[in-house]
Amino acid sequence: MTVADLPKIELHLHHEGAAPPAFIRQLAHEKRIDLSGIFKPDGSYDFRDFTHFLSVYESACKVLKTPEDFHRLTLAILEESAANGVVYSETFLSPDFCGGGDLAAWRDYLNAIQDAADEAERKFGITLRGVVTCVRHFGPEQAKISAHCAAETAGDWITGFGMGGNESVGAQSDYQWAFDCAREAGLRLTTHAGEFGGPESVRDAIRDLGVERVGHGVRAIEDPDLIRELVDREVTLEVCPGSNVVLGLFPNFDAHPIAKLRDAGVKVTVSTDDPPFFHTTMRREYEMLSKAFGWEAEDFAALNDTALAAAFCDEDTRARVK
Ligand code: ADE
Ligand code: ZN
Repeated sequence: MTVADLPKIELHLHHEGAAPPAFIRQLAHEKRIDLSGIFKPDGSYDFRDFTHFLSVYESACKVLKTPEDFHRLTLAILEESAANGVVYSETFLSPDFCGGGDLAAWRDYLNAIQDAADEAERKFGITLRGVVTCVRHFGPEQAKISAHCAAETAGDWITGFGMGGNESVGAQSDYQWAFDCAREAGLRLTTHAGEFGGPESVRDAIRDLGVERVGHGVRAIEDPDLIRELVDREVTLEVCPGSNVVLGLFPNFDAHPIAKLRDAGVKVTVSTDDPPFFHTTMRREYEMLSKAFGWEAEDFAALNDTALAAAFCDEDTRARVK
């Protein structure tokens, strides 16, 4: 058995961002939607930089129109995750892409996704939990609508609330109402910070939104005081090294700060973010980390213990997937 064969816990995966380009092309074909501009000649997604990535992502989402589309997508992505050894996965689900914030429509999408997740659990042995996500560059008012959808559907498999999107738009504090609403509904909280925003963005996320996990957070490496704060507050980072390398934060895995953050005592975990966009899988992330830092089976087992402890699920689920 190699490190890449180990059972894995993944905490940071965007549901739409996990759609393979061939899947999106097939739906575009069925619905007669022209998406030719978002693919390279070799069929992969084509983007230049982070903001262009976000725009290509949103174009791909245009073909994901119905609950049935999300049913198909959920089965496909959970089968792929399970094939990579993932036994527990949390995915980000956006009301913006599932009915545009209409609560009745959102419920229909969730029912379809849950149905597919039940089938995937039976067939592939993988457990799904949903983290409802607002999109930062859609603005605070839209985020409130997402939080309302999240609060109304909080329950056994919708267990968290978060925020993705362009970190340079507005401030974390602009989204306080949405996060308070989700917290009051019993949801656990995470937000993207310290990916394209600097250390202050991570600090703001913890102080202003009260998140217990941070998506990425890797730019904390620039600020030793923040590293100490993350350690003291036991904040877990959802680190996505392959995503960071493709989006140009670091030139390669060797230069990625995950090992330094871990050695400083920060709780780090490993995820893929949007695997087909970044030409990665959980298996590849493990292989690359093992190669870059010499991590062995016990390092990855510890990483997975950290991830499971920070997972937004109940104790029964934690015990079952362990
Ligand atoms: N949405 C999907 N992937 C993202 C990323 N890496 N950062 C911010 N928002 C995203
Ligand atoms: Zn992300």
